[in-house]
Amino acid sequence: MAPPGIRTILFTANQIRDRVGELACEIDKDHRPDEPVQVVAVLKGSFVFVADLIRAMRTPLTLDFIAIASYSAGTTSPGEIQLLKDLDSKIEGRPVLIVEDIVDTGHTLHYLHNILGARAPKSLRTACLLTKPSRRAVTAPIDYAGFEIEDRFVVGYGLDYREQFRQLPYIGILDELTEPLR
Ligand code: IMP
Repeated sequence: MAPPGIRTILFTANQIRDRVGELACEIDKDHRPDEPVQVVAVLKGSFVFVADLIRAMRTPLTLDFIAIASYSAGTTSPGEIQLLKDLDSKIEGRPVLIVEDIVDTGHTLHYLHNILGARAPKSLRTACLLTKPSRRAVTAPIDYAGFEIEDRFVVGYGLDYREQFRQLPYIGILDELTEPLR
């Protein structure tokens, strides 16, 4: 049963598992089996997705984390994006896969592409579990997208509202928000 505050379950744990498996197959097809991919998980929201995704992939890989704080100032303004934790590893000459939970305005992904692209990786691709195309303010290249959703605030499977709900095994729409989101 959904906890208080969750109005609708958008994607069940089974639906997510199946889609993540499909994404892993697509990613495997685009990468060589003899060259490890550097997976870059964007904290915190992608931690559940990346854990499932990498276990469904056959391509060899190494995993690193990057942490971003984005203080969005609205749909069209990038607000302020701050790098809280950089990668521990070098990515020059390596195939890189950014793993994001959700692409909303696109500012975060746009920023990541700029800073990681400047480090001359061999290739730079992005996988996101969710995307809200109607909210896009800047072009953010996505190679693998799990589900397209409407402009709704969703939680669960790593996604939070004020640090809550990350542990839900499904993705749900929040019923009532105590404070404005953006
Ligand atoms: P963007 O820079 O506007 O694309 O925002 C991306 C970040 O905003 C995501 O990585 C999430 O942390 C957060 N975000 C955007 N929409 C949602 C949502 O519906 N639920 C939870 N977090 C969200």
